Amino acid sequence: MAVPLFDTTTPLAPLRERLHAKLAELLDAGRYILGPEVAGFEADFAEYLGAGHAIGVANGTDALTLALKAMGVGPGDEVVVPSFTFYASAEAIPPTGARPVFCDVDPETFCITADTVRAVLTPRTKAVVAVHLFGNVAPVAEIAALGVPVLEDAAQAAGTTSDAGRPGSLGTAATFSFFPSKNLGCFGDGGAITTDDDDVAERCRMLRFHGSYDKTTFEHVGYNSRLDELQAAILRVQLPHLDAWADGRRAAGRHYEEAGLGELVVLPRPTPGAQPAWHLYVVRHDRADELAAALGDRGIGHKAYYRVPTHLQPAMAEWGAGVELPGTDEAARAHLAIPMSPVLDADQAAEVTAAVREALVGAAA
Ligand SMILES: Cc1ncc(COP(=O)(O)O)c(C=O)c1O
Repeated sequence: MAVPLFDTTTPLAPLRERLHAKLAELLDAGRYILGPEVAGFEADFAEYLGAGHAIGVANGTDALTLALKAMGVGPGDEVVVPSFTFYASAEAIPPTGARPVFCDVDPETFCITADTVRAVLTPRTKAVVAVHLFGNVAPVAEIAALGVPVLEDAAQAAGTTSDAGRPGSLGTAATFSFFPSKNLGCFGDGGAITTDDDDVAERCRMLRFHGSYDKTTFEHVGYNSRLDELQAAILRVQLPHLDAWADGRRAAGRHYEEAGLGELVVLPRPTPGAQPAWHLYVVRHDRADELAAALGDRGIGHKAYYRVPTHLQPAMAEWGAGVELPGTDEAARAHLAIPMSPVLDADQAAEVTAAVREALVGAAA
């Protein structure tokens, strides 16, 4: 039995009729930019997260740049960011005029820690981008206690929760991506910024619309970066189902544990107090590439997402050269994502686990 890396189709099947009806409604209304669907989604999403404001933007990368600028980041500043993350977490920093400063992750959780941040703080540090990687929860409060504002990159953590609250409500501001494969995905590109800070929210709204507060006077050089009505409407249909999908992702993780996967590879570890809605289920093994090839032969989806970490990417040479990050090296070398979705069942988890066992221990085991 083949098992895909992720499944974005099955969870949406029961919503098809509702989605079709919503799209028809939208065509009838004929309003496509910054209308009632965006305002409605922003209100629904802020309430879901327990955040004061949500601001819809065009994608998760713009969300990071706009949020950093709204937090006052600019030329001459430093922004701390993990290297073991999707490239956009760091790519969003230079457009503010600030420089990215790479910090390490704990390879057990794939997240930054207060210690890895403290190691790179300088008087020029203006903010820390805490990435809730793979749906885990970075320790935002511990990092904020170092005295530096935290921007959560929650692109991969919609549906996750923790004892401290949901990602998106833990830092000075947070950003989300609604790229179709995300835990909450739209049918194209989309993103959001969330914050409790009224001023940051106001500046984000201004920046997403050409640097104007009233759409008449243009006070800043801003962006054209809006979530459109169509995507917002689609997200509003899906949001009430996010918690059930998150439960499905957690159940899939338990199926892997019950199938004995932890005897074969290192399983992802939730940070203290976190209940991750695993966006990607990422295991570690010394022979990760060999395992990947063997899984491919058996029709099991897999992917090494960040084999070359961000600080070693060509575009980051100016800021990444000479940086030493042992936890990042370990995570980059040994990680492998295996199938994960809200509907991954016990049989599929057993099939994947059997394929991993066959690849690493041999057919007879
Ligand atoms: C951790 C992280 N940050 C930022 C982004 C950027 O989001 P987008 O693709 O919507 O620009 C992504 C999405 O791919 C991501 O995974």
